[in-house]
Amino acid sequence: PLPTGADLFAPERQNSKGVDLSDITQLARINAARLRPAPIAVTPIIDGTPSGGEAQPLTSPSDAAVIGQVTFASSRDVDTALAAAAPWSAAPQDRAAILIRAADLFEAGFGEVFALLAVEAGKTLADAVAELREAVDFLRYYAVQARSLTAPARGVFTCISPWNFPLAIFSGQIAAALAAGNGVLAKPAETTPAIAAWAVAKLHEAGVPRSALQLLPGLGSVIGARLTSDARVNGVAFTGSTATARRIQTAMAKGCAPGTPLIAETGGLNAMIVDSTALPEQAIRDIVVSAFQSAGQRCSALRCLYVQEDIAQPFLTLLTGAMDELSLGDPWAIATDIGPVITREAADQINAYVEGAAKDGRLLHRLTAPTTGSFVAPALIRVSGIGDLAQEVFGPVLHVATFKAREIPQVIAAINATGYGLTFGLHSRIDDRVQTISEAVHAGNIYANRNQIGAIVGSQPFGGEGLSGTGPKAGGPLYLPRFTVSQADETTS
Ligand code: NAD
Ligand code: ALA
Repeated sequence: PLPTGADLFAPERQNSKGVDLSDITQLARINAARLRPAPIAVTPIIDGTPSGGEAQPLTSPSDAAVIGQVTFASSRDVDTALAAAAPWSAAPQDRAAILIRAADLFEAGFGEVFALLAVEAGKTLADAVAELREAVDFLRYYAVQARSLTAPARGVFTCISPWNFPLAIFSGQIAAALAAGNGVLAKPAETTPAIAAWAVAKLHEAGVPRSALQLLPGLGSVIGARLTSDARVNGVAFTGSTATARRIQTAMAKGCAPGTPLIAETGGLNAMIVDSTALPEQAIRDIVVSAFQSAGQRCSALRCLYVQEDIAQPFLTLLTGAMDELSLGDPWAIATDIGPVITREAADQINAYVEGAAKDGRLLHRLTAPTTGSFVAPALIRVSGIGDLAQEVFGPVLHVATFKAREIPQVIAAINATGYGLTFGLHSRIDDRVQTISEAVHAGNIYANRNQIGAIVGSQPFGGEGLSGTGPKAGGPLYLPRFTVSQADETTS
């Protein structure tokens, strides 16, 4: 069921106001957490009990320093968690109250979680603010929606999340599954288990039963198949790469009951078209944000920019000038725009890709990056079109192509031919053109005359089509019902 009018206007449904980085008292809390970081020692939490095993060091992407340790879950831990997992049988109103309490605890803990986001994921302060807001919004949005749910929970969901939104996506999947009354086996990305453990501790503290939420930090290659191919798993929510989604689909077909839902949100090859009527200053600002914020590590990030040939030369001069203003470095520094990418290996791969473009004479511009830690200098690479991009380069690398006005249909055809369909951006002051192009491009989220990242929960449901995901969109009215047994399931079973 869709939320009622009353639910949509409930006070708890308001989006989080976030943390004001210009407020000295809030900054003081962040600094206190920075100066006295809590010790990090993450283990699986099964039925409320930490599980033992060999611990491994956790390192920071900023400077490769050891920041703590993690014990990854074994296949045996997964079996124990599967045996212990139980749906959350509390009434929808009670579940909602607990999730809203968890949202309050998340907001109150901003200093400590910003510290984790910076040291474990290399998030800048601005990104940390956005990430916490999104996590809080997911908790409140699904909680309020759950109050009017009448369909029963499915049972137990496996929730598998990526490192690039280690708090927001991790919490969003879990919040939806729990709000609907399911139990959850939560597997965070291997590089960001401490942020996940922080979120799970807050959810337990708020009153989510231990049996309804198990934490299984671990390697996808070791426990992924076990978590997605068991008859006791009644649904899988996955966000990550398209290749992993395919593996999960195969595993589910082997071990889960027929009809077990997979909600997969995956990668994208996202384009933007800028025509000669665009307002250059606004388009440049939106391109820089879309391509380089979060070091380009957003599934929504702009990967291929199409600029109309008539304006290309001055436009690219403006763009490279704006890139030169970006500041790379310590994610804790308030002036930093771009932090590190997630690991040294990721940095090496992206840098090798940029080097390859430089050898081919296609590198148009590149900044310089700090030499310690896993930094990648933002780069601009010339291509003839999006078809030249063999795959998503998950970092601060923007490709640029030009087009003639009469070639717009071919540009749209090339974008659609990638098979992906996550975000798309368009800068034009011709209303008819905005309308026509928006209708023709296959993408889940289309943004006109603004940037193309940072969808707001409840206002801009987020998710792709084709190779970019199965839907329903996260943060929208159709997401939560997918975690329940719908009438359609009952009539087909
Ligand atoms: P990934 O697919 O490598 O990993 C995602 C998660 O899957 C991790 O927790 C990983 O441990 C787990 N995993 C790996 N192998 C598995 C297996 N065989 N079975 C089960 N789980 C397994 O992706 P990533 O590198 O962590 O994240 C980046 C990707 O995620 C990019 O492609 C990005 O576009 C995509 N992404 C999409 C969205 C979206 O909303 N569409 C949001 C964020 C990220
Ligand atoms: N929801 C995130 C964004 O819109 C991925 O950027």
